[in-house]
Amino acid sequence: MIKVGIAGARGLSVVDAMKAMPDKVRITAMCDLDEEALSDAGKKIGGEDGAGCPGLYRIYEDMIEKADIDAVVISTPMQCHVPQAITALQAGKHVMCEVTAAVTMDELWWLIENVEKSGKIYMYAENYCYIPECQIVCNMARSGAFGELYYGEGEYTHDCTALRDWHGKPGWRSYWQMGTRGSFYPTHSLGPVMRCFPDDRIVSVASFSPGNHNPYGLRNDDLTQTVCMLESGKLVKIRVDTVSPRPHAMAYYQLQGTKGCYEANRFGGEGMIAVATQSEPDGYTRWKPVSEFVNYLPERFRSGEGAGAGHGGGDYYIVKDFIDAVETGVQPELDVYKAAEWTSVALLSQLSVTNSGRLMEVPRFRRGMSWEEKRITL
Ligand SMILES: NC(=O)c1ccc[n+]([C@@H]2O[C@H](COP(=O)([O-])OP(=O)(O)OC[C@H]3O[C@@H](n4cnc5c(N)ncnc54)[C@H](O)[C@@H]3O)[C@@H](O)[C@H]2O)c1
Repeated sequence: MIKVGIAGARGLSVVDAMKAMPDKVRITAMCDLDEEALSDAGKKIGGEDGAGCPGLYRIYEDMIEKADIDAVVISTPMQCHVPQAITALQAGKHVMCEVTAAVTMDELWWLIENVEKSGKIYMYAENYCYIPECQIVCNMARSGAFGELYYGEGEYTHDCTALRDWHGKPGWRSYWQMGTRGSFYPTHSLGPVMRCFPDDRIVSVASFSPGNHNPYGLRNDDLTQTVCMLESGKLVKIRVDTVSPRPHAMAYYQLQGTKGCYEANRFGGEGMIAVATQSEPDGYTRWKPVSEFVNYLPERFRSGEGAGAGHGGGDYYIVKDFIDAVETGVQPELDVYKAAEWTSVALLSQLSVTNSGRLMEVPRFRRGMSWEEKRITL
C-alpha cells in the first residue's frame, strides 16, 4: 500500500483516481498554506469530518517530517515545485509534480541531481499527454499511420488575466507566469506533440513575439511563438498566449507527416485526421473525425477501468502510471529528463525572446551529465 501526501489544493484532481485504487494507494496527508483550502481538501479526501485523511498540515516541511507517507503529489505554485520536490526526495519520498517542473535552469540541474542521488521515482504530471484524443493520435504517429512525421504544432491560448488566488488578490501567476517573458508554460503544448516523436529531442529553440500591448502592466508579451528544432532536423512550433482576449483553446495541436495529418478542433469538440489510403481513388486525403480512429486508443482506455475520471479517463491513468512506477521501481515515461527538456523550453525561450529571437541550444538531458554540459550560453 503506497501512502501519499498531497501539497496544494489543485492536487485534489488525483483524489478520485486514488480512491478508485483502494488496494494500492491511500491518501494519508494533505498540506495547504491556506486553512480554508486545507479544511475543504481534508473533507474531500477524508469525508465531512475529515477523519479519513489523518494528517492535515499547513507547512509542507511538517508534512514531510511528520506524516506517514511514501510519496507526495506536488500541486503548489510553480516556484515551490523544485524546493518541495528536493525536500521530499531527500527524505526518501517519491514525487509526482505538477507543471512546469522548475522556474530556473539551475533548479532543473538541482532536481535532476536529487532524483539521481535519491533513486526515488519522479513523475512529471503532464496530464495533457493523457487526453484520449492525444493518446489516439500519438499511437497513430508511433505506428506510422501519418507516414514520417516532420512537423508538429501546439497552442495554449488561455486568457489568465482574471485569475486570482483564494482571497481574490493577484496571485503568484502575476509574477512567475505572466510576470516573465517567453513561452513560460510550454509543456501542455509540447508534451502531446513530442510524444509523437519518441526517438527525437529538442536541440534548439528560438522565440518571437509581437510585443506588449496589454493594458494590465504584465511583463509577458501578448503571445510568444517558439520554434523548436529537433535533433532529426524536424520542426515543432508552440504558441503560449495567456493575455489575448479570446476564448480558451488550451489543447490545440497539429501534426503533419508524409502520409497524413491531424488537426485538433480550436473551437471545442473533436479534431480531424486526414490520411492517404488506397480506398481514396483520386489519391486525395479527406478529413475524418478522430472518433473514426478510435481503434488506436490504447486498450486500457477502452477497458473502462478509468471510466468517469476527469479528462476522459486521463486523470486515472496518470495516477496509475505513477503508482505502477513506485511499485516497480522503474521511472515512468514522463520522467525527470522529459520534465527538464520540456520545461527548459520555457526558460530558454525567455532568453531567446529577450535577445531578439536568438537561437538557444537545449542541453541533452540525461543521467550523469557533466558540469560542462550544464552550461547555457547565448
Ligand atoms: N496540469 C494542469 O492542467 C494544471 C492546471 C492548473 C494549474 N496547474 C499547476 O498546478 C499548480 C497549482 O496551480 P493552481 O491553479 O492550483 O494554483 P492556486 O494558486 O489556485 O492554488 C495553489 C494552492 O497551493 C497553496 N500553496 C501555495 N504555496 C504553498 C506552500 N508553500 N505550501 C503549501 N501550499 C501552498 C495555496 O494556498 C493554494 O491553495 C501550478 O504549478 C500550476 O502550474 C496545472
